[in-house]
Amino acid sequence: MKITRFSRIGFIIAATGSAVGLGNIWKFPYITGEYGGGAFVLVYLVTVLLVGFSTMIAEMLMGYLGRMDTVSSFEKLAPAKKHLWKFGGFESLAGLFIMIFYSVVIGWIFNYIITSLTSLPATPKEAENVFNNMLHTDFTTQFFYHTMAFVWITYVLNKGLKSGIEKMNFYLMPALIIILAGMFIYATTLGAFSQAVAFMFTPDWSKITSEAFVTAVGHAFFTLGLGMGTIMTYSASLEEDANLVKNTFWVVFFDTAIAIVAGLMLFTFLYQYGSGPAKGPGLVFISLPSAFYEMGLLGNVFAIFFFIALAFAGLTSSVSLVEPMIKYFIDRFSWSRLKASISMGLFFWFFGIFAILSNIDGAKEYLTWGDKSFFDWVDYVTAAIMLPLGGLIIAIFVGFVIPKSKVESVMKSQLKWAFEPWYFSLRYITPIAMCIVMLSLIGIL
Ligand code: PHE
Repeated sequence: MKITRFSRIGFIIAATGSAVGLGNIWKFPYITGEYGGGAFVLVYLVTVLLVGFSTMIAEMLMGYLGRMDTVSSFEKLAPAKKHLWKFGGFESLAGLFIMIFYSVVIGWIFNYIITSLTSLPATPKEAENVFNNMLHTDFTTQFFYHTMAFVWITYVLNKGLKSGIEKMNFYLMPALIIILAGMFIYATTLGAFSQAVAFMFTPDWSKITSEAFVTAVGHAFFTLGLGMGTIMTYSASLEEDANLVKNTFWVVFFDTAIAIVAGLMLFTFLYQYGSGPAKGPGLVFISLPSAFYEMGLLGNVFAIFFFIALAFAGLTSSVSLVEPMIKYFIDRFSWSRLKASISMGLFFWFFGIFAILSNIDGAKEYLTWGDKSFFDWVDYVTAAIMLPLGGLIIAIFVGFVIPKSKVESVMKSQLKWAFEPWYFSLRYITPIAMCIVMLSLIGIL
């Protein structure tokens, strides 16, 4: 079998593309708004450093040692109990499930790129109507753009690791960074910039509830793309002499920097032209467009570029969400890439239609259970249960199942004095943190 692998820099760009997604630019600012800024940001940053960083190294190590799809890598690294541990590899399913709503949101973004070309809503009320009309009544538009996202993502995946995934990341990631940097520089010249800085970096501990704490920890996992085999799948093609710590450092650095930059920029615009930090998923789709309107012509240009950047961030994450299952079917069942890409694509496309319907008036009644629509359930089950569980499994697997000598043989020279603290954090800090997150999110704690 021909082995296609990322180039050295291609790996870092693709892994960064995976990490930097809707989570950074859409979700991080609105949950920061929701939980009151400073203190929340601090909890998130500490989690990224203490838990995220060490788990990413562990997941990368598993791919590096396993060299196969996630299920086979688990089997290979735990030969004595492979029939049990192979189930760990099915954490990759989380990516396909996430795609069910991720692709729908990318569709909304496509729609916003097109509508920003012609007009922006003049008032927050109007912006809210536009968004809610799309969400609750306009099945056709959502279906159309969701299908476009499916076609794009499937096309790239079918082209393979190097000429598909690496190449797309190679163009889209620099474009994304240039757009955000340009808008960020403009934001720093506005009077409201210092207000945005104060909002994001002055901790007000009274605002940190246990829910805020848990959300910050869960988000650190989601945004780094941990616990569902993405990094493991990408790192299965690393060179023998790859430095896992350096790779991890760059991915974590870019992911965090882009979230902070996006947050500062959006809050500056909202202070300057809107009504201050907004909350909830509508921040980017409701509060922001009307702030852009207030900005005048430049706002129109910014709106178009902003949604393009957001779409790029989403697309480069999407391919990483689907690739683990594609690799599984290719490696274990000898499927062709075409067959695997189309099947996985059709899976999230098909269920995505129900995610759309679950917000549409007249249909949503049939697709809502408890207080959540099908769309919300998929988001909740993946973020609250599957990713923390995946992270927990990886930490325990590298911390206790793979012999320490094997872990040491690769990591000691790269981590040096930090090896023992890293190992300790994998064995104890991460598992405990993950259990707390899961139990709280499913409502037991
Ligand atoms: N990290 C991506 C984001 O922030 C989403 C993602 C989750 C990607 C899990 C890969 C794995 O949007």
